[in-house]
Amino acid sequence: MNIVDMRSDTVTRPSEKMWEAMRGAELGDDVLGDDPTVIALEALGAEMLEKEAALFTPSGTMANQIAIRLHSQPGDAILMEAGAHPFNYEGAAAAMISGVQIRPIPGEHGILDPDVVQTFFPVADPHFAPVSLVCAEDTANRGGGTPYPIDILDGLGKLARQRGVAAHLDGARLFNASVASGIGAARRARHFDSVSICLSKGLGAPVGSLLIGSDAFIDRARWVRKSLGGGMRQAGLLAAAGIYGLKHNVARLADDHDRAARLAHGLNTMGFATEKPQTNMLYVEVDDGPSAQLILQNHQLRCLAVGPTTLRLVTHLDVSDAGIDLAFSAFSALKATQQHE
Ligand SMILES: Cc1ncc(COP(=O)(O)O)c(C=O)c1O
Repeated sequence: MNIVDMRSDTVTRPSEKMWEAMRGAELGDDVLGDDPTVIALEALGAEMLEKEAALFTPSGTMANQIAIRLHSQPGDAILMEAGAHPFNYEGAAAAMISGVQIRPIPGEHGILDPDVVQTFFPVADPHFAPVSLVCAEDTANRGGGTPYPIDILDGLGKLARQRGVAAHLDGARLFNASVASGIGAARRARHFDSVSICLSKGLGAPVGSLLIGSDAFIDRARWVRKSLGGGMRQAGLLAAAGIYGLKHNVARLADDHDRAARLAHGLNTMGFATEKPQTNMLYVEVDDGPSAQLILQNHQLRCLAVGPTTLRLVTHLDVSDAGIDLAFSAFSALKATQQHE
């Protein structure tokens, strides 16, 4: 049965060419530091982001958490938007691993305002935890896949520098932001000390992320990754997929963005309210999220109810134009059931 899975851009299966790259990968033992394909992936990631070094991690969560661990001390406060991934979806890891307090700051569509962030730096007073880190998420997932306006992104990095604290960019979907804005990933990350990018989302690799920063930072990150159990042995098998994704699947993200726009337009025409998609994510309002998710699934469309009346649909490599057409049929069926209630 033909199922279209729009729950996330993480659900893609390796294409035949990506498999070929994986099968042909030269392997070593990455924990011992001699897997040539991992070394090549890390060099490519560092070069693309115009930073000194990179570290392959099993997940975006681990990349973010290594950054938090290295940029902070137990008891510090770290600042991020209220919908940010490490605050909502990383299992309180920042508290467990780094012993820090996350200060969630409300933003607009996931976008922080540096003038507001500035007010979260406490006056010197022992009642308040010192701030050691500012995090931004580009694109902002819960903000509807919104890319940061570049001046605001720069403003956050510069604010951190002025205040003498670190800046980390959660760039799980940084390439979506760069393709949508026409501003390169390296330029977007320029004012950040560290960046995490995901290979297993829009770029289509099955597993893996990169944490990118200075040589000294990545040396220490390698130690933290090992301590968290994130050292992987013949990891070149996975790194080959990441290299393939970085080389072949960045520019085509524009197709995912176009399909999300087409999906929004069609659903709006059918009477469903949506936010205008900024990249590859669409949030759709329905009468009852969980039951709509089930009805759509019965019509071969998988998506996620992310709130009582909100569904999230994400376009990616495995959603074709025919997949968008299938989504329209599934939503027509949903509409028919809503009209009969
Ligand atoms: C913005 C953002 N950051 C980090 C992550 C974590 O990635 P992973 O699922 O690989 O841990 C995600 C995953 O969806 C994400 O959307």
